[in-house]
Amino acid sequence: MAAAKKLVRLLMVVVGVAGPGAAALSMDYYGMSCPFADMVVRNVGCDASVLLDSTPDNTAEKDAPPNKSLRGFEVIDRIKQALEMQCPGVVSCADIVALAARDAVLMAGGPYYVVPLGRRDGTRSNAADTVALPPPFLNATELAQLFATHNLNLQDMVALSGGHTLGAAHCANFKNRLATEAATLDSSLGSSLSSVCAAGGDGATATFDRTSTMFDGVYFRELQQRRGLLSSDQTLFESPETKRLVNMFAMNQAYFFFAFQQGMLKMGQLNLKEGTIGEVRRSCRIIN
Ligand code: HEM
Repeated sequence: MAAAKKLVRLLMVVVGVAGPGAAALSMDYYGMSCPFADMVVRNVGCDASVLLDSTPDNTAEKDAPPNKSLRGFEVIDRIKQALEMQCPGVVSCADIVALAARDAVLMAGGPYYVVPLGRRDGTRSNAADTVALPPPFLNATELAQLFATHNLNLQDMVALSGGHTLGAAHCANFKNRLATEAATLDSSLGSSLSSVCAAGGDGATATFDRTSTMFDGVYFRELQQRRGLLSSDQTLFESPETKRLVNMFAMNQAYFFFAFQQGMLKMGQLNLKEGTIGEVRRSCRIIN
C-alpha cells in the first residue's frame, strides 16, 4: 500500500509540471495496439517527467524538495517492463501513472473512475518546475485561486484534497501549523505531533488521518475535529464555502466518491502532451 499512496501523490505532482495543451484522449486508445493495457489504472495529466532520474547536469523533478517523499517508481518500472514485453513502445509512462493511480485508489477501497488514454511522455524533468505545486501553507482562498487556474472548482478542490485520505506528510510540511495554529488544531493531536517532530525532526512523518491506508471519508471527519495535518487541509474547514463541502463529504461518503471521480477525470486531462508531441519512453526513467 505504501507504493499505492505514492502513486496517488503523483496525481497531484503532475498537475503543476507539464506545459499547456488541449485534451483529446480516448477510452480505447490502446484497444488494438495493446488491448489489456487498460488493466492497469487510469488518470492524471502526467507527462511522467517526475519519473526521470537526475543526471550529473540536471536535477530532476523527483529530487526537488517537494517530491522527496515520492516513491512507487519501482512499481511503475515493473508495469512498464510487463507492457514492453507485450506491446513494445506503445503505452506511455504518463498513461501508466494515470492507470496505476486509479488502481491504487480502487484497491484502497475508493471509487473506480474512468481514465481516458493517449498521453505522451515529456522530454524534460526539471526540479525547478515543481514550484507550480500548491504549497501546504496556502489558505482556502489561495488554494481556490490556484485550482481555478486549472478550471478546477471548489468542489473539485475539496474532493481532490480528499486524496489525503491516503498517506502521510513530513514534519517539515506541518511544523509551522503546530507552532502557529493552536486555535484550529485539536490539542491532543497537537501534542502528539509535537512529540513526533521533536523526536524525529523534519524527516519524521505523520499520517493525514487515522485510516491512512483506506480510501474513505475519515479525512473529512478529522477536519471537523480540527485534526487536519497540513494548514492546507484544515483551512478547508475554516473557510465557509469549503466548510460546507467538508461537512457534506464527511456525512456522505458516496457523494465524496462521486465528486472525487469527477475531479480526477478533470485533473487527469490537464496539461496534456498528445499526438506527435513528446514520446513513448522505453524506460520510464530515461528519455529515449
Ligand atoms: C490541495 C492542495 C494540495 C496540497 C497543498 C498538497 C500537499 C501535500 C504535501 C505537503 C504532502 C506531504 C509531502 C511529504 O511531506 O512527504 C502531500 C502528500 C500527499 N498528497 Fe497532497 N497536496 C494537495 C493535493 C493533493 C491531491 C489533489 C491529491 C490526490 C488526489 C494528493 C495526494 C496526496 C497523497 C496520496 C499524499 C501522501 C503520499 C505519501 O504517503 O507519501 N494531494 N500532499
